[in-house]
Amino acid sequence: MTGSTAATHPEVDLDALTLNTGAIRLEDLIDRSMLQDVIRSVFSLFGISVRVFAADGTLLSDQAEQQPLCRVLNQLPDGRAACATHVNTIKRLAPEAEQSVEHDCFSGARYHVAPITYDGRVLGRIILGPYLPAELREVPPGLLVAVPTLDPAKARELLPRMPRARSDTVQHVIAHVRSVLDLILFSGHKALLTSQMHLASVRESYRELQDKNARLQDAYDRLQELDRLKSNFIATVSHELRTPLTSIIGYSEMLCEGIAGELTSEQTEFLLTIREKGDQLLALIMSLLDLSKLESGSLTIQRENADVVPILEDVVSSLLPTSRKKSVNVSFVPPSSPVPRIPVDPGKIRQVVLNLAENAVKFTPADGRVTLSVSVASDADPDEDGFGFALLAAAASVVEIRVADTGIGISADQREKVFDAFYQIDSSSTREYGGTGLGLAIVKRLVDAHGGSVRIEDNTPHGTVFVVSLPISLSPAP
Ligand SMILES: Nc1ncnc2c1ncn2[C@@H]1O[C@H](COP(=O)(O)OP(=O)(O)O)[C@@H](O)[C@H]1O
Ligand SMILES: [Mg+2]
Repeated sequence: MTGSTAATHPEVDLDALTLNTGAIRLEDLIDRSMLQDVIRSVFSLFGISVRVFAADGTLLSDQAEQQPLCRVLNQLPDGRAACATHVNTIKRLAPEAEQSVEHDCFSGARYHVAPITYDGRVLGRIILGPYLPAELREVPPGLLVAVPTLDPAKARELLPRMPRARSDTVQHVIAHVRSVLDLILFSGHKALLTSQMHLASVRESYRELQDKNARLQDAYDRLQELDRLKSNFIATVSHELRTPLTSIIGYSEMLCEGIAGELTSEQTEFLLTIREKGDQLLALIMSLLDLSKLESGSLTIQRENADVVPILEDVVSSLLPTSRKKSVNVSFVPPSSPVPRIPVDPGKIRQVVLNLAENAVKFTPADGRVTLSVSVASDADPDEDGFGFALLAAAASVVEIRVADTGIGISADQREKVFDAFYQIDSSSTREYGGTGLGLAIVKRLVDAHGGSVRIEDNTPHGTVFVVSLPISLSPAP
């Protein structure tokens, strides 16, 4: 199926549906309770038993009353045998389309068997009877011959208790019942066709959906493979770049120190630029390596019970040179109540906080402020407690590290995207701030690897707060 057909209506094979109706059954077209109502009304009007059979002989509906004579006959062995033969004969009577058949029983009673037809096909039969033909006055001699043990006086008493009907009356009744059934069959057929068409269209949509799913799965598998190749490529290239780069940095350092002889001030200046750019390049390569390790899952977290306060203090002091240059005030606000040690990899948490604090300084103009703080909080979802779920389960405690700045801020619609690798809000070539867009991607993955989470909040009146939540105790492995 092509994409263009998906947009049009599903094609229903109407021919196939029409052909299908060749196999329709009475019981598919008619509602049983409706049929029973029709049969009951005929019985209550004329007092004659009515039965409706499907084409395969299944009894679909019946409104019958055993006649006193039949009851007596059934109690006599020869009567029961004669009745059984007679019932078999009636069952085998298969009226042709539009043709009714009358059958006289050995008792003198009559049965009228009429076909139920629809669209020229016989779908079943109505059997009306037993009833006494109006002209029958005497016990027929055949009855006493067929059932010799029957008391003739009993036969004379019971036979007239059978409902009596004229042949043309029965014809009318049958014609009436058939026309009512015709109407019911017509509306039933319509409903059946509609539901078949509906089913066909649902089936078609389902098939299309399955097709699309299969294609999506293919595309997803290919993308995953590409992603894996990309990660491998980045890891290899970064690794190969790092080795010569460390030599470049090392040798420029040695030259700066005058190991290879005195340098002019201009030469020193050039060398310092080489070193500075080399350091930047090394930082980028290390970020790429980290990211590819995080993506491939090969980066391991070495947990120990660590105090985060010294980590934050250390980040603040390592940022002082840059922040002073920019006239941004960076400070650590000690916690008001004690913060417990938490099971984390201190090196990785330092990397997380450093990335966030570097961003905070970078995106905060002169005279702004960057504040690092830490506190204990509960990780109950504020949206959830309305229905008590979070309240019922004891809320786990977390340590929250906050990096707040008074900088340019991040609008609500960007708060998910900034964690994507290489994503920068301002990605223009004229952008004011340096960077590669890898820092937050690494932050997110490192925090995830610790079982924590990171979110962005507003810092009123302006600026951003990055909040890193880290679990105080390790949740048991699932
Ligand atoms: N503290 C912040 N204030 C404003 N914008 C920020 C801040 N931190 C990150 N951003 C935005 O998120 C983007 C991605 O950050 P990051 O992944 O660290 O990349 P980079 O710092 O290399 O640009 C940044 O380019 C910037 O647009
Ligand atoms: Mg950054």
